[in-house]
Amino acid sequence: MKNARITIIGTGYVGLVSGTCFAEVGHQVLCVDKDPHKIETLRNGGIPIYEPGLEEMVRRNVAAGRLQFTDSTAEGVENSDIIFIAVPTPPQPDGSVDLSFIEGVAREIASHLTGYRIIVDKSTVPVKTAEKVAETIRRYCKARVEFDVVSNPEFLREGFAVEDLMKPDRIVIGVGSQRPVTAMREVYEPFQAPIIVTDTNSAELIKHAANSFLALKISYANALSVICEAAGANVQEVTRGMGLDARIGTRFLQAGLGFGGSCFPKDLSAFIQISTELGYDFRLLKEVQRINAEQMDRFIKRITDTLWVLKAKRIGVLGLAFKQNTDDVRTSPAIEVCQRLVREGAMLRVHDPQAMDKARTLLPEGPQVTYLLSQDEVPEGCDALVIATEWPQFAKLDLARTRASMNTPIVIDGRNLFDPAEMERLGFIYKSIGRGS
Ligand SMILES: NC(=O)c1ccc[n+]([C@@H]2O[C@H](COP(=O)([O-])OP(=O)(O)OC[C@H]3O[C@@H](n4cnc5c(N)ncnc54)[C@H](O)[C@@H]3O)[C@@H](O)[C@H]2O)c1
Repeated sequence: MKNARITIIGTGYVGLVSGTCFAEVGHQVLCVDKDPHKIETLRNGGIPIYEPGLEEMVRRNVAAGRLQFTDSTAEGVENSDIIFIAVPTPPQPDGSVDLSFIEGVAREIASHLTGYRIIVDKSTVPVKTAEKVAETIRRYCKARVEFDVVSNPEFLREGFAVEDLMKPDRIVIGVGSQRPVTAMREVYEPFQAPIIVTDTNSAELIKHAANSFLALKISYANALSVICEAAGANVQEVTRGMGLDARIGTRFLQAGLGFGGSCFPKDLSAFIQISTELGYDFRLLKEVQRINAEQMDRFIKRITDTLWVLKAKRIGVLGLAFKQNTDDVRTSPAIEVCQRLVREGAMLRVHDPQAMDKARTLLPEGPQVTYLLSQDEVPEGCDALVIATEWPQFAKLDLARTRASMNTPIVIDGRNLFDPAEMERLGFIYKSIGRGS
């Protein structure tokens, strides 16, 4: 299985990047998606998402004949040794996971299965999903064929997905029998990462437990920011001082606008929900959610406390993506800030280096929202400038020009990109998170 025939069902952030990285190390990959536009874009050399380094890697592997795209699941099932499922698992209103995409794919695979396949769940799913997928395939498969269902959660970070997939910290392989273990090890062997083989339930729990813990770290830093503001301390110094302790680590210990994106909020809700179903009230994680929601409320209050009336105020917003290096705006705190300001009657001038196209559906351009192609144009005539995403180029904003072009030089920084003393020296009224003012 050194050069395995791999099919990926679901060609989104996880599926496209995983498929491309599998091709990069020599596997033969077929990416399937039910969205024909996406497949057409990919076949025509386009890339439907922004991920640093992805475009050239896709081109290279398509040219080498190792990476192909189709909208036919039947073709994908037929031409494969291993089938990865990477379809969405969105949240439902009660916080539980909508597993209908996974169930749908399991049934589709079942209807086309004619010989042994390893079916790998890469989507983030609640514990016991692999067992349900296996049961569904058995139920809907007309032929008497053998198969194994494996849980192989994905830990990539959007914005760093290629890097994370090529050099993973670890690979988790959850199995119900030993049969697929050798093939799975061989598929991942080129990535030279530690491989942990567990049962499927443990593998599924590892993913939810890991994401919930990272969200907890962010909320911890945000809770500290409240104390720091009250005490006149600097949260960046406090978290750095903590994080340099190797047992703690500095990563995910930054105060800011709170976590968002397509994973943390939904995975946290799902884990709380699953825990409840399993008889445990995970109050610690409910508090993590509460701190996150309050951090956003506190930020909006800071804007209103500073500007008093928001109606008809002209506010520049830098950042729409949920974090740097991505075009993903799903559950983006930056979008929430914009939507709340619009509801208060503010007039927004917004910019994001990559996410403007995707943002337009959630924050339509109109009398209250103007999209600008350059970050330097955003502050012009504004009563305040809000920093909502931590894109590194925002830290390089021409501050003298910004100061001169604004109506009133107020900067409210949700990502602590600037030095408070320097901003004051330049004549700004500068508010940030957990740094005294
Ligand atoms: N985005 C991340 O950073 C990340 C990281 C780790 C894990 N995950 C998990 O991976 C899963 C996928 O997330 P994503 O961000 O890649 O989602 P996505 O929405 O970007 O991509 C999913 C793709 O699946 C396709 N699809 C849906 N049903 C299909 C079907 N029946 N057949 C073929 N294609 C189908 C959709 O058209 C879409 O292109 C989720 O469970 C998510 O929680 C995401």
